[in-house]
Amino acid sequence: MESYVLEWLNLLGRWAHVITGIAWIGASFYFIWLDNNLEAPKPTANLDPGVGGELWAVHGGGFYHSQKYKVAPPELPANLHWFKWEAYTTWITGFFLLALMYWYQAEIYLIDPAVADLSKPVAVIIGVICIAGGWVVYDQLCRSRFGENERTMTLLLFVFLVVVSFVLCQLFSGRGAFIHFGAMLGTMMVGNVAAVIMPGQRDLIAAKEQGREPDPIHGIRAKQRSVHNTYFTLPVLLIMISNHYAMLHAHPYNWLILIGLSVAGAAIRVWFVQRHFGKPSVIPLVIAFGLLALIAAAIAPKPAPSIDAGTKVPSLSAVHAIVTERCASCHADAPTQPGFASPPKGIVFNSESDTKAQAQTIYQQAVVTKAMPIGNLTGITEEERQAIDVWFRDSQR
Ligand code: HEC
Repeated sequence: MESYVLEWLNLLGRWAHVITGIAWIGASFYFIWLDNNLEAPKPTANLDPGVGGELWAVHGGGFYHSQKYKVAPPELPANLHWFKWEAYTTWITGFFLLALMYWYQAEIYLIDPAVADLSKPVAVIIGVICIAGGWVVYDQLCRSRFGENERTMTLLLFVFLVVVSFVLCQLFSGRGAFIHFGAMLGTMMVGNVAAVIMPGQRDLIAAKEQGREPDPIHGIRAKQRSVHNTYFTLPVLLIMISNHYAMLHAHPYNWLILIGLSVAGAAIRVWFVQRHFGKPSVIPLVIAFGLLALIAAAIAPKPAPSIDAGTKVPSLSAVHAIVTERCASCHADAPTQPGFASPPKGIVFNSESDTKAQAQTIYQQAVVTKAMPIGNLTGITEEERQAIDVWFRDSQR
């Protein structure tokens, strides 16, 4: 029953996370596009002198006319829209999902004894330190004198992320490392909204009401953080979905793949921003797709080497016995493994013919990537993996 409730919480949490994420990223992409497409306002009789740019758009059967003030309008409107709950709810739902899947069920999703045999509390504490510590390091970097120089900041941030990626991949299962890396970046983005951009906007309004000059530092900081957020967006999205692909996260060089994906995502965003200004260069695209192609080529499955003559080949029933013992506690119509209400991804190994039909995927998951059994909860041995290996390679002859 508990696992059934967990599945529903997972489904509803994921749904809410995707909705809020779309609302946040959608609004944030829209405002960046808007800002980058503003034109000098046409002088008209009723143009406010403080307006610095304007934009016309047609959408959903109506015309829209946006104006951006250089600092603030002479009178604050009674009803001013803020955009912050999209960000906060994305983080809250994401945190809920992370805690539900990776912390509460750490022995399944977060801990991989073949990577590091952590206890559940230690694994969860490392996860919390990664997310909170990542924000502190990033925030302090931005506020330090390094933060004043865009290139230095980018370089330091890159080095920091490489280190985090490497360390996480030495501690957690691949999927656990990827999701924590993504959650850390996502937390930096929400932290930027909550701790820098919103306070800056509040000061702007307070200054306006008190008739004083707003402190320009807020504007400078907010600009820096929103630029960072723009370039974090696509990497975070790619990382969040990439943890469903064992070919990426279960690879021995998963930490490099994670960095490659992040850089590719940021480069694509660079291209979009250049495009807003009408000057897209091919360089970011070459970098992004070059990196993706490089990763694809580097991890491409190699044909299984043929087995030596005279090697003893296990029978199908011997292999099916291994699969039944090590896999079918989860991958069966009615799983017996605690935490599983239904077979993951609908994959079942009920009979010898199931095992035979899925030889390729079994080989891929249990021998090549070793992503399965997940967290090695069922304690498959190296000899058993070898038996599957020999059996599969023999079947390929
Ligand atoms: C403790 C439970 C558990 C055990 C035992 C287990 N699996 Fe899985 N398996 C999962 C989960 C959870 C997923 C879904 C992972 C995801 O969402 O990326 C999965 C996914 C898969 C997939 C689909 C992979 C994909 O990316 O589409 C295959 C194939 C698979 N398992 C094969 C096996 C084999 C072979 C074994 C035995 C060697 C095994 N599993 C043992 C829990 C288990």
